[in-house]
Amino acid sequence: MNILVINGPNLNLLGERSPNIYGSETLEELMMWLENSTEGKNYKFKFYQSNHEGGIIDILHDERQWAQGIIINAGAYSHYSYAIRDAIEAINIITVNVHLSDITNRENFRKNDVISRVCKKTISGKGRFVYLEALKFLVGKANHEW
Ligand code: DQA
Repeated sequence: MNILVINGPNLNLLGERSPNIYGSETLEELMMWLENSTEGKNYKFKFYQSNHEGGIIDILHDERQWAQGIIINAGAYSHYSYAIRDAIEAINIITVNVHLSDITNRENFRKNDVISRVCKKTISGKGRFVYLEALKFLVGKANHEW
């Protein structure tokens, strides 16, 4: 199974950005941890990070033939980007929406997640484990439904 992992705006600053909320690991450390996990070793990954809405949409379009499962943390775009929402819907690949922090327990504007409605599952608030749980979900779906 080919897994596309997309991280959105400001996630390139993980490690220095509000470590009390997002943890002290860098994005690269976190993605390597996922790829080298017991589950991760069985799958092919492509990792992308973009601070731009259109950049995220282009990645979704460009990798739609390759990707068989998607994990996306669209950062703040999750709360208002109907364009990213529509791109996920358009390519019709099983997608899990993740957030490191618990978006239900922070500022009000974070409670609305427009991406979640086109994703099979949303996992939030467990730090780096959200990515691992998303991977396990995708793999479980692959074994049962494909
Ligand atoms: C985030 C939560 C978003 O509200 C925020 O804008 C982010 C990160 C998370 O992973 O917890 O950039 O998606």
